[in-house]
Amino acid sequence: MKISSVLLLLGVFLFAGLAYAETFAAKEYFERKCVSCHAADGGGDVDKAKFLGVTIDQLNLVKTETINAKRENLKTVLLDGKNSMPAYRKLKEGEVDALIDYMLGLGRGIAKK
Ligand code: HEC
Repeated sequence: MKISSVLLLLGVFLFAGLAYAETFAAKEYFERKCVSCHAADGGGDVDKAKFLGVTIDQLNLVKTETINAKRENLKTVLLDGKNSMPAYRKLKEGEVDALIDYMLGLGRGIAKK
């Protein structure tokens, strides 16, 4: 095998690995940090809504209003928090985007389960 083919193959593997890591991290992070309030399908946790004194709609991330919301506004709520929604200031730009994509993906029914 020529050295260029070896390098190409290596590149493909590295790229696939990185792409996999990113999708996986957003899903894992969501399941670790967000599911307790927003539920695994993003529809909101009924008991948590009662506990927090908010409507299930406020915890629902897959409602039309949220899916159609300005991306910047969703990012601001995620980074700065809002009422009983905690702030996640430590998230990096790429991580915020990956999480918003994951969340919106749930809403559009295209997120990997
Ligand atoms: C302690 C419960 C709780 C946890 C944990 C939580 N949230 Fe929330 N989240 C809320 C509440 C309550 C609101 C509604 C705030 C309001 O409108 O007053 C909300 C709102 C949001 C919104 C805005 C939705 C909209 O329609 O404008 C986004 C985006 C969001 N959360 C994402 C996340 C993500 C991503 C995580 C995990 C990193 C997370 N939340 C973790 C309680 C929580």
